[in-house]
Amino acid sequence: MTVRGQFITFEGTEGVGKSTQIANAADTLRELGVDCIVTREPGGTPMAEAIRELLLAPRNEPVNDLTELLLMFAARAQHLHTLILPALERGRWVLCDRFTDATFAYQGGGRGMPGEKIALLENLVQGDVRPDHVVLLDAPVETGMARARHRGELDRFEQEAVSFFQRIRETYLARAAADPDRYAIVDASASLEQVSARVSELMCKFQSHLL
Ligand code: TMP
Repeated sequence: MTVRGQFITFEGTEGVGKSTQIANAADTLRELGVDCIVTREPGGTPMAEAIRELLLAPRNEPVNDLTELLLMFAARAQHLHTLILPALERGRWVLCDRFTDATFAYQGGGRGMPGEKIALLENLVQGDVRPDHVVLLDAPVETGMARARHRGELDRFEQEAVSFFQRIRETYLARAAADPDRYAIVDASASLEQVSARVSELMCKFQSHLL
């Protein structure tokens, strides 16, 4: 029998270095002989990537909070059921750049959507599927926003005010504090070498716990 793969998600506010650290985590796991794939939300499949474009494009029309929430979960349903779950069932590990914690943080903390509404959709779309581990890359909002601005044109979320991202950071930290066994908080304001070393160490720990 193939053992189900581990589902690891990476979270944080803008510009905390998630992409770099997911690539580093995948390299570490592959060196340990773990078969893993890297994917992202919103997105990860052609249809979910099309929904991502709808969500991120700056537009003049005001976007209703519920529309945004439903589109996040529409993309997630497609991604989870056609890509993530089949991979996990084949024993592959899935490293995902954001997942439902981002919805609680951005649509919940950021936009003010009630957590119970988000939890309803979480149960509908995911059943009892939750990430095995969440790596939260945490840094002061201003540090990350400066990095995001350097990357070029800002998307619809990146155009939000600092206070929006502060609420998001607080929501992430509160969720991590409530479930410390499943969440690992990494200080993303440390040097690249230090952050990479910590993330690699976490991957080794997750793998060794399964042996
Ligand atoms: P990214 O820039 O990390 O790829 O994420 C795209 C944007 O989508 C980012 O600003 C966070 C936002 N987002 C949500 O608002 N809710 C969600 O559930 C997800 C997955 C992302």
